[in-house]
Amino acid sequence: MTAPDLYSLPKAELHLHIEGTLEPDLAFELADRNRITLPFASVDDLAARYDFTDLQSFLNLYYATMDVLRTEDDFAELTRRYLQRATAQGVRHAEIFFDPQAHVARGVPFEAIVDGIGAALADASRDRDVSGGLILCFLRDHPVDGAENVLTAALERVDSLIGVGLDSAEVGYPPSLFTRVFDRARAHGLHAVAHAGEEGPASYISEALDLLRAERIDHGIRAVEDPALIEFLAQEEIALTVCPLSNVRLRAVPDLAAHPLRTLMEAGVRVTVNSDDPAYFGGYIGDNFVAVADALDLTPLEAMRLAQNSVESAFAPLDRKVALLHEIDGWAERAGLPLT
Ligand code: HPA
Ligand code: ZN
Repeated sequence: MTAPDLYSLPKAELHLHIEGTLEPDLAFELADRNRITLPFASVDDLAARYDFTDLQSFLNLYYATMDVLRTEDDFAELTRRYLQRATAQGVRHAEIFFDPQAHVARGVPFEAIVDGIGAALADASRDRDVSGGLILCFLRDHPVDGAENVLTAALERVDSLIGVGLDSAEVGYPPSLFTRVFDRARAHGLHAVAHAGEEGPASYISEALDLLRAERIDHGIRAVEDPALIEFLAQEEIALTVCPLSNVRLRAVPDLAAHPLRTLMEAGVRVTVNSDDPAYFGGYIGDNFVAVADALDLTPLEAMRLAQNSVESAFAPLDRKVALLHEIDGWAERAGLPLT
């Protein structure tokens, strides 16, 4: 039997920074359109810089390049291109992170960001039955005041959002700093997630759960260092949105073969596979599934479990989740796998 195609496996993407889908060619296109001079000689010159030593070395380029995003149309075009690639790799539901503080500080109106991303999501919903939503991420390495202010602006458009998250440089910026901001967001019905345990310690994962009431943990791979925490995550069915190619590119793990994904799965943790910043890390979500399945010898049933986990952990209505789980069953049936 040939191996089933993991690209066509229906899945939900739960950890995706829209700014991290900015491919070098689109960066130059938008720079031209907005009459901005990028500090890179060419598309190839920019692409050649996608060689990182840690999270900060990536973030430096990520924040520099996103300067080309200026208008609602820019955000719509960026999101349209992402959804095209993602749906070609099996994505049926996408929860999209965005970093408004990084744009508002450059004079981009908050509305232009959410309306642009929202328009592309609405088109994909109408034309391709893709569902999804927006998760506003606070920049943890900026003063907390900035997060409070952007939340105040965002609450005017709270219906455009499904949740809040926490990203950017992790070490030295513990979740506890953002307890009050998250309290406010949750009081307005927003879901909560947080990056924790990517470069930072396992204790940041516990803090994100206890203080921010995070419902999912983004990355979370350093949970493997704390057996009691692993047991808690498994028991409480808290999803980790793991991004294997990101972890290799940012050197959170030495290589894919050493990735703790299998260990976490075998401990009963609800692991999902996602792409993080696919334009920068060498692949979109299907590429992550294929790479990690190859490196860790995941069986087709294990890959299917990862996709089921993604749907089960999504902030989507129950009927949508049931429909997507049926789509996964259909994929398994066509691949000749036993239904679970
Ligand atoms: N980690 C933290 N912050 C980020 C990332 C990431 O991988 N990508 C974009 N912002
Ligand atoms: Zn991330």
